[in-house]
Amino acid sequence: MPTPILQTDTGPLMHKAVEEAARLLRAGEIVALPTETVYGLAADALNPQAVAKVFEAKERPSFDPLIVHLPSKKMLDEVAEVPASIQLIVQKLTEKMWPGPLTLVLPKKSCVPDIVTAGLPTVAVRVSKNAVFRRVAESLGRPIAAPSANRFGSISPTSAGAVVAELDDRIPLIVDGGACLCGLESTIIKVEPGSPKPIITILRPGPITPEDLKLYGKVKHLTRSVVDEATEAPGQLASHYAPRTPLRLLSKPSDFTPIPGKKYALLSYRGDSSDGYTQLTDWVHVQILSPGKGKLPEAAVRFFYVLRELDKLGVDEIIAEPMHEHGMGIAMMDKLRRASVKQVA
Ligand code: TXA
Ligand code: MG
Repeated sequence: MPTPILQTDTGPLMHKAVEEAARLLRAGEIVALPTETVYGLAADALNPQAVAKVFEAKERPSFDPLIVHLPSKKMLDEVAEVPASIQLIVQKLTEKMWPGPLTLVLPKKSCVPDIVTAGLPTVAVRVSKNAVFRRVAESLGRPIAAPSANRFGSISPTSAGAVVAELDDRIPLIVDGGACLCGLESTIIKVEPGSPKPIITILRPGPITPEDLKLYGKVKHLTRSVVDEATEAPGQLASHYAPRTPLRLLSKPSDFTPIPGKKYALLSYRGDSSDGYTQLTDWVHVQILSPGKGKLPEAAVRFFYVLRELDKLGVDEIIAEPMHEHGMGIAMMDKLRRASVKQVA
């Protein structure tokens, strides 16, 4: 049976969708919900049987922990034990950034089931800014575990239609909240005491940039060693976020020589021929992230949608132009590199 989709465009529709989602969550079911980053597949975080259904629907390996979304900042102490040494910076960050696309990894409290954290002593927490998600979380009144609502290793969904493509038939409800405003998954950080400033390590780059975070501490990036990643950010495997079609990220136009007979599509940053990519071959299709001058937040909103569209074309290879590696460009370049690595790994 196709999964029902509830709309939220009007007050009464929103009310009905929120109540139905909360009812299912209370009953230990799973529901796809919009967030400001990407759509999440939600379950009551304190109900291990419900969380197990998330892993099953996504075909997600049990070693990959989930993010816990709180109905409000006030609930942080119920799921996490914030050490005194970082209390001040955690307070500053959550005051300024929550609700919003920032996830903090903190020591967990025992009420958080091991299945949520994949047995780790830490829990990843955030408060979503999305109006639909917030209303469902408030109605439920409990923390919600929600990974991105895609099959494991696949492209994150930024619309209800994309959730259908990933999880139709597998879940009892999709709440349609329209397109996600950020378009990229939340920035994940861990915080440690440091002198003179606390140390903020970015485990996954996202909409909250190093520039935003440096006001609060010394910002470090997790090195790209696979060993580090496996232990520090278990879900951040090299093969993540990949389309099924092979993808190659270029550094410059001269890196690409088409092989006769092969079909190629281009993922272009701004579609400008002066960048030197659009005229490299007779592309089957060119998808432009941010037409015109090229704006990173606009590219971010369209990023997963464009990857999904390119993946449908049946070409031999998707060729991706590089982007400015600052702001939200850091997260997009990280994802393109991971998608690129998949073919050689
Ligand atoms: O924006 C987002 O974060 C979205 C929306 C739905 O909130 N969620 C999302 O979840 O991207 P997911 O499961 O696709 O990615 C969560 C990442 C994984 O890479 C996981 O390994 C990491 O968070 N993570 C979760 N708990 C962790 C922990 N205790 N320590 C380190 N990394 C953790
Ligand atoms: Mg994901």
